[in-house]
Amino acid sequence: MKLDVIIRGGRLFDGSGDAPRSADIGLADDRIQAVGDLSAAVAARDIDATGLAVAPGFIDVHTHDDRALLTPGMMLAKISQGVTTVITGNCGLSLAPASMSHIQAPLDLIAAPGWLRFPRFADYLAALQRQGIAVNAACMVGHTTLRANVMGNDLQRSASLWEREQMRSQLETSLEAGAFGFSTGTFYPPARAADLEEIVAVAAPLARFDAPYVTHMRNEAEGVMASLEETFEIGRRLGVRVVISHHKIAGVANHGRSVETLARIGAAMARQRVSLDCYPYNASSTTLNPAFVARASSVLVTWSTPYPQYAGKTLAEIAGLLGCDDLQAAERLMPAGAIYFMMDEQDVQRILAFPQTMIGSDGMPHDEHPHPRLWGTFPRILGHYARDLGLFPLETAVHKMSGLTAAEMGIPERGRVMAGYFADLVLFEPGSVMDCARFADPKVRSAGIRQVWINGRQVYADGVLHSETAGRVITRPAVA
Ligand code: ZN
Ligand code: CU
Repeated sequence: MKLDVIIRGGRLFDGSGDAPRSADIGLADDRIQAVGDLSAAVAARDIDATGLAVAPGFIDVHTHDDRALLTPGMMLAKISQGVTTVITGNCGLSLAPASMSHIQAPLDLIAAPGWLRFPRFADYLAALQRQGIAVNAACMVGHTTLRANVMGNDLQRSASLWEREQMRSQLETSLEAGAFGFSTGTFYPPARAADLEEIVAVAAPLARFDAPYVTHMRNEAEGVMASLEETFEIGRRLGVRVVISHHKIAGVANHGRSVETLARIGAAMARQRVSLDCYPYNASSTTLNPAFVARASSVLVTWSTPYPQYAGKTLAEIAGLLGCDDLQAAERLMPAGAIYFMMDEQDVQRILAFPQTMIGSDGMPHDEHPHPRLWGTFPRILGHYARDLGLFPLETAVHKMSGLTAAEMGIPERGRVMAGYFADLVLFEPGSVMDCARFADPKVRSAGIRQVWINGRQVYADGVLHSETAGRVITRPAVA
């Protein structure tokens, strides 16, 4: 057996959720070749992992990294957490295929002037491949992007039959080019008028590719139960897996209702394929919109085009400075982004602990003052929730960010440490791993992430980034 690298003496959390064991890992080329006692084997390079946990590289199931992947330096936020694969194109927003003439909220969360340059999904994937990407990426198509392409600014209505057919065709061509799935964001104004029939018509091609339907649901507050029913029905009509994005219960009046939603999700899982993800914080982050302000106990502004100097201040502080009330301040700051403190910690913990819940950051890489989830999500699960609070064992934490995600999302040969799989690995200190990004100071690297390997290459070691080109585009294996 010829090995390039042997990682010796670590505690292996293999991504399956099983208890850790002592094991050496042998790598050759881009793959894991051997797992077990390799004391008799030799390799060109030995890595001493004594005292460290060795795990599959983490999969960030919910990202808005469409543009960050093409922007040098930006994926450090993820690599420094041990993330080796991201899924992009969430919440109905994707950078491709884009033929719209201008960028409207919430597409401004990922797009920017000069970035509407991928008229076909194939152009986007080709750009990723040509430029090289820091982590593996599975890229989805966003419904809101398709709506903006086909309907222009006239989005306050359901799409016509002709428009649905245009969107359906753009999705189908994108899936043929390698798109991984389809997302909607009916929560947001430009997609709110899209009804179930529109979504089912547009998303029809998913079945042929067995690709998932991923959704930022219409309502995560008082209407959350109806939104779940709509999501399940769309999944049944399409015959595909549905993924409930960043499951949360918004608004003080609804706190505690994760008991109800998780029971309903569990019941649906017995009948159809349903997945869900969650980020480990009790504050959300998205565009600033006066309509979202009332649900939150406090709002922190993350960016503002007219008032860039106010990023990082609370809406209340800014209202004081501008001499107006919160809602007027919100109007004046737009287009802008915000963090909304509007969830109950007990709901967050209940959702995180639900056995099928995957971990996704929902980080906003282009925000001036981002939500700390961008830099802290994965170490926070390991350090804060698993180790310090004991919400679940460390092997469960690893499983929720690797093996579970790969299995649910259909990512082949990743998410587990086993012979034959791609060599995506993270080595971390189980006693000290911890997020360090805070709401007041969010762009801070986590502690305790020692090494990250992607496709057999060591890309990050003791704080130094060694490569931004080891990642690969992950396309969906063709369905027979
Ligand atoms: Zn979302
Ligand atoms: Cu999102």
